[in-house]
Amino acid sequence: MLILGIETSCDECSASVVRDGNEVLTNIVASQVDLHREYGGVVPEIAARAHVETIIPVLDQALKVDGSVPGLIAVTVGPGLVGSLVVGVSVAKSLAWAWDVPLIGVNHVEAHLIAPVLEKKTLEFPFVGLVVSGGHTLLADVTGFDRMTVVGETLDDAVGEAYDKISNFLGLGYPGGPVIDRISKDADPDAIFFPRPMIKSGDCNFSMSGLKTAVVRHVEKIEFSGKSVREDPRELADIAASFQAAACEVIVEKTIRAVRLLKRRRVMAGGGVVCNSELRRKLTKACIREGIELFLPSPVYCTDNAAMIASLGYYLYEKGYRCGNEVDVYPGLKVGETIPGCEKTD
Ligand code: KG4
Ligand code: ZN
Repeated sequence: MLILGIETSCDECSASVVRDGNEVLTNIVASQVDLHREYGGVVPEIAARAHVETIIPVLDQALKVDGSVPGLIAVTVGPGLVGSLVVGVSVAKSLAWAWDVPLIGVNHVEAHLIAPVLEKKTLEFPFVGLVVSGGHTLLADVTGFDRMTVVGETLDDAVGEAYDKISNFLGLGYPGGPVIDRISKDADPDAIFFPRPMIKSGDCNFSMSGLKTAVVRHVEKIEFSGKSVREDPRELADIAASFQAAACEVIVEKTIRAVRLLKRRRVMAGGGVVCNSELRRKLTKACIREGIELFLPSPVYCTDNAAMIASLGYYLYEKGYRCGNEVDVYPGLKVGETIPGCEKTD
């Protein structure tokens, strides 16, 4: 069966055709990063309007697969920006009606959790799922495609959001993750000791805003003495590397805590921050030390993409989930929450 996936929850407009849940035939992603750069973050109205412009060309490219009509359409219904979600859901509903094929609504964060299936081909449950992106930071116990429980999440900023805010503050531009990752490579991660928020809290929750404030205070202190941090590439790189070391240490520590608490033997990761080279290195080292399996997807399946939406849609459909035409958008949808209008039928 061919599944058409549609993803427009934030600032990536993506469509993909996947065969039987794990064979990606096409995966087209139109990034809007250039449109949002001058604002230092995603502007919801600009994102929604850009989706209206790009969704048809993106679909047109994605559907260039041996001419056959997909047997299922999967679309992100939440969580995300309401105006962005509406574009994808409206187009998905229209196509399902015009082609007379079933439609399935998918939770974007749950799709990140199962995205490893696109490269691994099968998923062995249970596992600890880690999602770290611009909008989400959470750990979940994943025991099936339709059985996911959040065990920890951020109490304030998402990790990617902290990268982006610090990068903007340091004058390094948007998005912050890739640039901080790059300049940290030749810098000293121990140059400044930034706090590791909630590292000893005993639970699996995160807090990133205190770390962000610590970086701001550090820079203000240096600048008070008359030095310009932003004009000193060495100093900037050391601050970036020290921030990154603190952020990654917390993520790894919390992931291993979840593994031990839940007594799981596998970790699967997803979300844009999983592209980070330091996080990949630290997570790999920690999982080897614990003797557990770790899977880190290729960057294209870490960041937002419609292939993971098509994939989860397929596995839910296989399990008997069906979606009525009344399905709406759910901007605040939680992991594990039933999608109204998309219930299991048998
Ligand atoms: O998953 P994603 O494409 O979109 C959301 O759902 O948010 O993630 C985007 C986020 C941005 O905050 C970006 O700065 C971050 O992922 N990111 C990175 C890296 N590449 C992207 N963060 C750290 N290191 C990277 N190499
Ligand atoms: Zn995402």
